[in-house]
Amino acid sequence: MDSTLLFKEFYQLYGNENVAPELFFAPGRVNLIGEHTDYNGGYVLPCAISYGTYLLVRKIDAPVVKFATTNFDLKANISLSDLHIKQPGKWINYPLAVIDQFVKLNVEIKGLELLYSGNIPNGAGLSSSASIEMVTAVALSNVFNYKISMVDMAKLSRRAENDFVGMNCGIMDMFAIGMGHKNGALFLNCRTYEYDVIPANVAGYSLVIMNTNKRRGLTDSKYNERVAECQAALDALSVDGKLIDLSDLSLEEFTKRQQLIKDETVRKRAHHVISENARVLGAVEALKNNRIAEFGQLMNASHDSLRTDYEVTGFELDTIVNEARKIDGVIGARMTGAGFGGCAIALVKSENVDEFCKVVGKNYEEKTSLKPDFYIAEIGDGARKL
Ligand code: GLA
Repeated sequence: MDSTLLFKEFYQLYGNENVAPELFFAPGRVNLIGEHTDYNGGYVLPCAISYGTYLLVRKIDAPVVKFATTNFDLKANISLSDLHIKQPGKWINYPLAVIDQFVKLNVEIKGLELLYSGNIPNGAGLSSSASIEMVTAVALSNVFNYKISMVDMAKLSRRAENDFVGMNCGIMDMFAIGMGHKNGALFLNCRTYEYDVIPANVAGYSLVIMNTNKRRGLTDSKYNERVAECQAALDALSVDGKLIDLSDLSLEEFTKRQQLIKDETVRKRAHHVISENARVLGAVEALKNNRIAEFGQLMNASHDSLRTDYEVTGFELDTIVNEARKIDGVIGARMTGAGFGGCAIALVKSENVDEFCKVVGKNYEEKTSLKPDFYIAEIGDGARKL
């Protein structure tokens, strides 16, 4: 990203070159394994990536917050008294949601000029929305001098998304974006927020992100449906009311109790969550001990469980993952993020990557009539002031 250009655009938009805005950045994230476990108090293994959202911010005297982005032709000037009102269109509600949380913490929001610029493919499941939220949170805490830890900012951004946007997501995306570390993936316990950085750059292998370019329509409502199904499973399993999260159960305990869940779909959802937690633990051990083939098998098993038990993959994700697995030098492939479209990942021998992109691209396009995109994931650091 050329920040000189972004500053130039800022001045063209808002004038007054005598007062420089401040620049902030928050990355996107890719999840290696541990899908749909976060809102069930389980384990995840995401990393922050080098793509992300940049934000220029300047305080002004007028009682208005001015929003603009280089990504869409969208501008809005919202007066300080209207900041709590949800706006039509999606994008602007992410920063508004975060502002709303700061107001709830009694931070006095004053006039601002904001210019966002993101290079995360939009709607691809690489957390462009959580990236916007986190960059806004880091910027607000800085410009209004409000002391708050990065973990609390991640929690705040999750509440913002749950309460204002209406997506009942877990903590994974915001946590990875805030606490991400260029040395590896975050092995996070989503219940206790304890985490560890696990080296995830495997010598001789590349993590390829495959964008199906299938837009994730209706994701929020299907996502919330899964959250509700997990709650129904928890209610059925927790006869004594002592179970706090589905992730409290081992696979063995679940197998013993599963008949308590009468609805077969709900039972399958719970089975995914509980088996996925075990896979994350296995994947962390495999990575730590350089057992790459085992890591790849766990990636594959994760995708298969998301396809059959959780039913969030769909034709495009299944097709790209199947095509990926056919290529020499591929250790494993799976969808990443919420599903219903968006991206998958594959761990590929670095010398095979060019051939991989060519062949998977061709075969996927033949089967779906969609042209995929490929990116080589570079693990990066978390959100910060630049
Ligand atoms: C989305 C949500 C996350 C998580 C994933 C699935 O990215 O925002 O909280 O639930 O889906 O693992």
